[in-house]
Amino acid sequence: MSTKKNILYAQSGGVTAVINATASGVIQAARANSDKVGKVYASQNGILGTLKEELFDTSLESDEDILALSHTPGGAFGSCRYKLKTPSTNPEQFKRLFEIFEAHNIGYFFYNGGGDSQDTTLKIAEYADEIDYPIQCIGLPKTIDNDLAHTDNCPGFGSVAKYVATSIREAGLDVLSMSATSTQVFILEVMGRHAGWIAAAGGLAADAEGAAPHIILLPEIPFSQQDFLNKVKHHVETHGYCAMVVSEGVKDEHGRFLSDAGYVDAFGHTQLGGVAPVLAHIIKKELGYKYHWAVSDYLQRSARHLAAEVDVAQAEALGKAAINMALEGKHKVMLTIERQNNDGDYGWEIGTAPLTEIANFEKKMPRDYISEDGMGITTKCRDYLIPLIQGEAHPPYRDGLPYYVKLKKVLVKKKCSTTEVV
Ligand code: F6P
Repeated sequence: MSTKKNILYAQSGGVTAVINATASGVIQAARANSDKVGKVYASQNGILGTLKEELFDTSLESDEDILALSHTPGGAFGSCRYKLKTPSTNPEQFKRLFEIFEAHNIGYFFYNGGGDSQDTTLKIAEYADEIDYPIQCIGLPKTIDNDLAHTDNCPGFGSVAKYVATSIREAGLDVLSMSATSTQVFILEVMGRHAGWIAAAGGLAADAEGAAPHIILLPEIPFSQQDFLNKVKHHVETHGYCAMVVSEGVKDEHGRFLSDAGYVDAFGHTQLGGVAPVLAHIIKKELGYKYHWAVSDYLQRSARHLAAEVDVAQAEALGKAAINMALEGKHKVMLTIERQNNDGDYGWEIGTAPLTEIANFEKKMPRDYISEDGMGITTKCRDYLIPLIQGEAHPPYRDGLPYYVKLKKVLVKKKCSTTEVV
């Protein structure tokens, strides 16, 4: 067996328009350091693929395709919403994982995900320490929700922020044109379960008095129907229309989601989606305005054509940094983005933070990023957000459409017993 250790990379949780840029960064840097590290195996569908010994051999992909991965949305290797049990509640699961690590000479485990996914990285790291197994576990941040602790921002968020702000600015112009004789209200529903970062980013579009969005609803602020209706009415009467961005995670004063679809996913999260029609109905009933609503849903998460250049750059740099950090001996950490203020100019560097302080945490919007009435953003929030949506990173186009790569994805030959322990 080679003395060089192989890398196991996996994608977990909700994917983003730039998660593959991180994968690309890992693979590019591993190739550049082939004298020190072995192959990069990519687990199919996150940790589930590891448990099933479904590992793709990325060494069989061309350099060209690995570069093209950087501009391809979705999760190229498949993702999962799956939480490992604990070694005491399911010891077989951990034995199985480490049997697979050993069989494939894995010395580095890079898990690319949000707060719930970093629970997996941490559990594996702690178990490795407990059994004294030589593997370095590093979390790579990713989530459009921008709610990971310790990192200034999360890869995937900047591009969604740009998409949402662009969409509400464009839709706002449309509604304004129609408002004299037709639609007066437009509601754009965006993701972000418990943290309002994405909805807040919509506020970047409001660059002048009366410009959309006129209202932003955030999960951090309990919904007050009367205050909301007063504001809608005020904007329709003042500007002729009211366009708003609302987070799927808006809750009533009892903490209940306005859009609870009635079931939970494997991370224990309530399935959301549908707050826009709920609000539209209230507006129609109480104020009588004609409305349109849209749920940006997966469109926002996959909108690579509108990605922010800085987001793509950070996602790819984190992947590359994972190799350097691993070679420096880092373990049980997640890589972070640290904001640098260079004489007022935005800059960023990559740092690390302990996984114990990241797994299962959600970073909410600070109160001073939210306007006093709870339905807008402050200058402080704008100042934080603006650098994160900068730059264009257009994918290549073929026949008028973005060109996205499809990898070969060849599975490695299984070496372990076929029993899956899930
Ligand atoms: O985890 C990020 C996220 O995009 C949330 O904003 C959203 O609520 C959720 O994922 C949707 O998850 P799924 O794609 O599993 O339905």
